[in-house]
Formats: sequence, structure tokens, C-alpha cells
Amino acid sequence: MAVSGWWWGLSLCAAMLSWQAWQWASWWAIFEESDFARSIPLGNRQRAPGFSLAEVPSLAGRIVLITGATSGIGLQLAKVVARAGAVTVLGYRSEARGQAALDQVYHVAPNASASLLRLDLSSRRGVEAAAAEFARRFDGLHVLVNNGGIAASLGPRLRFSDGVEECFQERRVNYLAHFQLTLALLPLLQRSAPSRIVHVSAAAHRHAPLHSSWLSLASINDLAAHSIHERYGMAELAQLAFSNELHRRLQRDGHADVLSNAVHPGIVATGLLTANVQDNYGPLLGRVVGPLVRLRNKVLAYEVADGALTPLYAACSPSLRTGGGYFVPIAQPWRISHPLGTDKEFGRALWTFSEELLARPGEEEIRST
Ligand SMILES: NC(=O)c1ccc[n+]([C@@H]2O[C@H](COP(=O)([O-])OP(=O)(O)OC[C@H]3O[C@@H](n4cnc5c(N)ncnc54)[C@H](OP(=O)(O)O)[C@@H]3O)[C@@H](O)[C@H]2O)c1
Repeated sequence: MAVSGWWWGLSLCAAMLSWQAWQWASWWAIFEESDFARSIPLGNRQRAPGFSLAEVPSLAGRIVLITGATSGIGLQLAKVVARAGAVTVLGYRSEARGQAALDQVYHVAPNASASLLRLDLSSRRGVEAAAAEFARRFDGLHVLVNNGGIAASLGPRLRFSDGVEECFQERRVNYLAHFQLTLALLPLLQRSAPSRIVHVSAAAHRHAPLHSSWLSLASINDLAAHSIHERYGMAELAQLAFSNELHRRLQRDGHADVLSNAVHPGIVATGLLTANVQDNYGPLLGRVVGPLVRLRNKVLAYEVADGALTPLYAACSPSLRTGGGYFVPIAQPWRISHPLGTDKEFGRALWTFSEELLARPGEEEIRST
């Protein structure tokens, strides 16, 4: 009898807690204006999507370069713009994955004009060579999508003899490489105007420290000072701040017809979300966390086709006429939820810091453990 009383009591508590959690989650997902809520399909069903595939205009004669175009969002973008008639250039780092991606593009768009560009974002020299090759092969660039990226990882890191990347491989790939590539291709983008630069960032930028003192070589290389989430957030915040600073400079220099905009694509069911589970949680815990992450992706994440819509909007929607914006799913203008994202002084400091990093001698890659 006593056991049955306990059982009923516990069940009642569990039911009330679940109900409360459900209420709270629904309220948050549907009504709360947060980046996270916007990335949940449940929340987004309440809003009309700001863009759809049917609205992609003809891109005939437009030249589009997408970094990290071998999978996920980048590959989906490549398929859509190629189908819309753009001369599509897929940035890749592995020959086999590049070829497989190109085959997929031709599979959905047999008449496309698509090709590959070797573009390893983890190598400064690789980015330099890619920009030079692009300029040799093409006489214009109308859309640059800075999409390639990696998830934060506690696993083995790439180190570089310039000392920049001791612990921030995501910084170079997700941000610094794109800063370098954009600046190298800027003259081409300006000559081809109207043109666009799309920075694929992440809502996780909000995990970056609120103060700007991390903008130093010592700080970005200090593993102990910043958590894995902070480090990923710093790279994503840098992308946003770069997008805004670039927009201000383009306006100032009379290139208002080159649009620089940033997006958060949403939580999208790509390999990025599961890539580092083993590294980050270890072999044992990883076995438990892995299926949970996959379940989370199935239930909450956007399909890749939907996740690509927000970057696609920034890349080609005729209704977007200005730069300096930040868009979240699906193609909704949004505020950057970190004070440094729009801070002009931080934007200028980041620009100078990035130039200093790129001017450091040394490039050879050293794989560390
Ligand atoms: N998925 C999400 O939930 C989510 C959320 C917020 C933001 N994002 C952002 O969306 C962008 C696209 O990610 P995704 O979700 O589509 O992930 P993904 O499927 O893993 O695609 C990442 C792409 O980046 C490429 N890449 C990685 N390191 C590279 C390097 N060193 N050089 C050249 N290319 C490199 C990958 O090439 P390989 O095929 O060679 O690996 C791949 O093509 C990323 O910038 C990510 O930060 C994604």
C-alpha cells in the first residue's frame, strides 16, 4: 500500500513536471524571440518563411563561389544556384569529396556550368593560391559564400608555425581564412558589382566572451582560458563583426553595391553536428551522446534543404538590397545577440588583428595531439 502511494505520488510529480516543461518549451519555442527558438521547426511553423526555393531568381551569367561546398549547406547551395543557371564554383579540400560533390551537382542540374576550386581553408598559402587561381580562371565574381566550417573540437589540433593556430583551428577555417579570401577577391567582387558576400556564421556567437580582451594572440591560443563553446563562439562572432565592418568600409569607399551580409542557417542536420562527438565526449560517453545528438537532429534540426534557404536568400534574393544585415531561419532579419557583433571599435580592432595574424611569418602545418 505504502509502495503504491509513493508510486502514485512520484508519477503525479513527474506528470506535473513534464507538463510544466512542455508549457515552458512551447512558450519559449513559439513566442520567445530567441535565436534558438527560431531554429526550432516548431517555433518557425508559426511564422511565414521569408524565402523559398520558388523565389530563387535566374542566376544566368552570375558567377558564384561557395567555400566548403562538398557537403551539407554548401553542397545544397551549389545545387540550387547551379540549377538556377549560375556559373558555380565549388571550393573543396579533398579531391575525392570534391569530385563526388560536383557529380551530385551535375546529377540535379545536368546542364549546369559547375567546376571545382581547390581551397583548403586551414592553409594560408592554400587560400592565397585558390584566390589567385580563381582570378585566373574567371573574369568576375558576383557571389562569394563564406560557408566552409568545422565544429568546435577537443580533439587533435592543427598547429601552424606562425603560431596562430595552436588551439584555434576553427578560428582559421571558420573565420580567418574567410577574412583572407574575401580581401583577396574583393577587387573582383567590386568590379563585378552588384555583387554579394555571404558570411555563414552561427547563433553560437553568443558564447563568445563579452569583453574584447580576447582579441590577442596569447588569448586565442590559450586553451585553458576559454571553453570549447567560447572558442567556437569567438570564431563565429568574428565572422559577424567582420561582415559588419566590411559593410561599413564598402559604404565608406563608394561600393554600396557590394553587399556584405551574415546569416545563422539554423540548427541543420549536417555532419557538422555529429563530427566531434567522440573527440569531445570520449569513446565511452560518446557512445551514449552520439545517438542522443542524432535523435536531437532528427526531431529539432532543419533538413539541409531548409537550412540552406537563409544563406540562399542572402546570396540571391532580389528583395535584399542592403548589406550589414544578419538573418536567421528562414530569411528573417534579426539582431546580433552579442554587443561586440555590431560594435564599430571592435570591428576595426578585429580587422587590424586579422591583418596582423596574416602577416606573421611561417605557415608550415604541424599536426599536434
Ligand atoms: N549545421 C548546423 O547546425 C550549423 C549551425 C550554425 C552554423 N553552421 C555553419 O554552416 C556552415 C556549413 O556547415 P554544415 O552544417 O553544412 O557542415 P558540413 O556538412 O560539415 O560542411 C562543412 C563544409 O566545410 C568544409 N571544410 C571543413 N574544413 C575545411 C577546410 N579546412 N578547408 C576547406 N573546406 C573545409 C567541409 O569539407 P570536407 O567535405 O572536406 O570536410 C564541408 O564541405 C559552417 O560554417 C557552420 O559553422 C552550421
